[in-house]
Amino acid sequence: MKVLLTGGAGYIGSHTCVELINSGYEPVIADNLSNSSIKVLDRIEKITGKKPIFYEIDVADFDSLDKLFFEQDIDAVIHFAGYKAVGESYMFPVKYYRNNINTTLTLLDVMKKHGVNKIVFSSSATVYGIPKTTPCLDETMPTCCANPYGWTKLFVEQILRDTATAEKEFSVVLLRYFNPIGAHESGLIGDNPNGIPNNLMPYITQVAVKKLPYLRVFGNDYNTKDGTGVRDYIHVVDLARGHLKALEYADKHNGTEVFNLGTGNGCSVLDVVNAFSKANDMEIPYQICDRRPGDIDEYFANPKKANEILNWKAEFDLFDMCRDSWNWQKNNKNGYDD
Ligand code: NAD
Ligand code: UD1
Repeated sequence: MKVLLTGGAGYIGSHTCVELINSGYEPVIADNLSNSSIKVLDRIEKITGKKPIFYEIDVADFDSLDKLFFEQDIDAVIHFAGYKAVGESYMFPVKYYRNNINTTLTLLDVMKKHGVNKIVFSSSATVYGIPKTTPCLDETMPTCCANPYGWTKLFVEQILRDTATAEKEFSVVLLRYFNPIGAHESGLIGDNPNGIPNNLMPYITQVAVKKLPYLRVFGNDYNTKDGTGVRDYIHVVDLARGHLKALEYADKHNGTEVFNLGTGNGCSVLDVVNAFSKANDMEIPYQICDRRPGDIDEYFANPKKANEILNWKAEFDLFDMCRDSWNWQKNNKNGYDD
């Protein structure tokens, strides 16, 4: 089965590419490298023995994507391509709406032209907004976003749902990721943020590698077990494997289905710091700082639907995630720029 990975050179796409190759799929990557490195392709080859077919194109460009579909006999698509920085999306909302929505619209046009009707989409737990009743989120809960990035995810979810309603052969799987961290066990691919990281784990690994002096813990007065924010961290390899299950599901069903991909465990910022210290035998200096505007105190996935219907379950624990994040960072101090 030949699978197009839009944005497949990125963090989650590259890990999914490895899992696809290891399971006998033929991935084709379309990426404009706006947030990734061409070196990823050699790294994937080192891990799997196979270099994925690669097109350096903007997925929003109809002619380039059309050419790809003419040249490759694509069976299904996993749509990762898009911008993902919440903070930046407040500053440049149009840039976010344009890229995240236009890539999807062009993709749907080209898929239709070439008779491809299976798509798995990278959505996010951010679409649940601020949990009103319980921090344990299942797929039936109301959606509402607090930021432009999140709205792009909700709009694209709706565009895909409408497409599947209009075209009976169409199959859409919406995957709502919780907080992906970790890296492939080889240490050859991993998260490679630009500049100073916004997210917790890359910040911790940059403190560990001494690029940053200490971690700022954003608030210890939340209504959580130790006062710091609680999230559902999921190993990126578990997340990648969820995409293979989603593809299998899309192959057998029409219409739209949505699944949370999370572990079901809520971990506080201090849980992560302590697990990182234990897994890697090092102290992470930190200071308690003010809350970060817009942060939510606590949420985590109810992953039951994916467990039961996709027959998928996260297998790695927080210790594994901390070990593998550090293995990637210590071997690639400057990410792919080393
Ligand atoms: P990433 O930035 O590492 O990967 C996205 C890739 O898309 C990059 O390689 C980038 O170059 C490419 N891209 C962007 N716009 C493009 C365009 N117009 N044409 C071609 N390529 C383009 O991000 P990631 O962490 O791998 O996330 C993948 C997807 O999952 C994104 O849609 C993101 O919003 C979503 N997601 C990520 C997280 C997370 O925490 N990483 C959480 C929830 C959802
Ligand atoms: C953010 C995004 C979400 C995205 C996710 C993973 C928002 C509202 N949501 O989630 O869309 O899917 O990133 O990319 O921005 N923390 C610190 N110090 C730091 C960094 C983080 O204490 O230097 C704390 C935060 O306050 C939070 C937790 O760590 O409690 C996790 O933060 P982060 O990794 O940024 O992810 P989210 O905010 O959950």
